[in-house]
Amino acid sequence: MKSNELREKYLAFFETKGCTRRPSDVLVPRWDPSVLFTPAGMNQFKDHFLGRCKLEFTRATTCQKCLRTGDIDNVGRTAYHHTFFEMLGNFSFGDYFKRDAIHWAWEFLTDKKWLALDPNRISATVYLDDDEAAGIWLNEIKLPPERLQRLGEDENFWPANAPSQGPDGVCGPCSEIYYQTEFGSVEIWNLVFTQFNRVGDPPHNLRPLPSRNIDTGMGLERTAAVLQGVDTNFHIDILRPLVEASGEVCHVRYEPESETGRRLRRIADHVRACTFAIHENVIPGPNKEKYVIKRLLRRAVLDGHQMGMREPFLHKLVARWPN
Ligand code: SER
Repeated sequence: MKSNELREKYLAFFETKGCTRRPSDVLVPRWDPSVLFTPAGMNQFKDHFLGRCKLEFTRATTCQKCLRTGDIDNVGRTAYHHTFFEMLGNFSFGDYFKRDAIHWAWEFLTDKKWLALDPNRISATVYLDDDEAAGIWLNEIKLPPERLQRLGEDENFWPANAPSQGPDGVCGPCSEIYYQTEFGSVEIWNLVFTQFNRVGDPPHNLRPLPSRNIDTGMGLERTAAVLQGVDTNFHIDILRPLVEASGEVCHVRYEPESETGRRLRRIADHVRACTFAIHENVIPGPNKEKYVIKRLLRRAVLDGHQMGMREPFLHKLVARWPN
């Protein structure tokens, strides 16, 4: 299944569940001083979760362009890390909750009409004391107990470690869904049960929100890699051509296992992130988001330099994104 088809299927599936399809928010949310770049699909709905704005809909679905730098050193080295990526999401603002979120995720993944993935290769995790989510997985979905794990706040709370370390704001326990491929286990979807507003340090810092919400995030590139049977996100239909094009403009052949392969994957990732950011007028500079983009550009140029490039080359890749 092509990435474009996956994106469309996801949004269409959640429309059948009453979700309103909304566009991606911008990548640089200047209205939100707490982040430099949009880190997740839920970012545009923070006020909805807090009950601070008038709701025209209580269910939504999006494909959000995101940029995160927390895993920057892994980009190009590992199969599944990016700076820029697309996150598919479905959201509930005081409407459906855990039961529907888990059942619909299962239906979308396994039903023949949708992704038709092998149910025997799916496993899940839940937060330590989340008996409700565990019960739904075990008793309703009938997930075998050996494929359900209970993990702590570092894995199964979003944001990770929010109860003890913050940041303040909306948060909740989550349930992550993994798929076993021939290359290993891939985390493809995070279902967050957004039910708290964190205020200050523990104890007693998790205040129940006015309503219980759902925030889910499925990695488009990871799920496409699973569906396309490839060993890394960088080999899916919308990324491999860009990696190969990076090789072309740098006059080297793309050999996935080599150091050159790692550099070309990193160039492809970083040029994608920079292109989207510059499209929103983030010009490389000394501060904040401008500095992040400057660093990404520098890293990509350095990779090219170390492969012998002495002339500008990144700009040639901007037009090479496949449709
Ligand atoms: N906000 C959660 C995440 O980023 C789910 O979308 O993983």
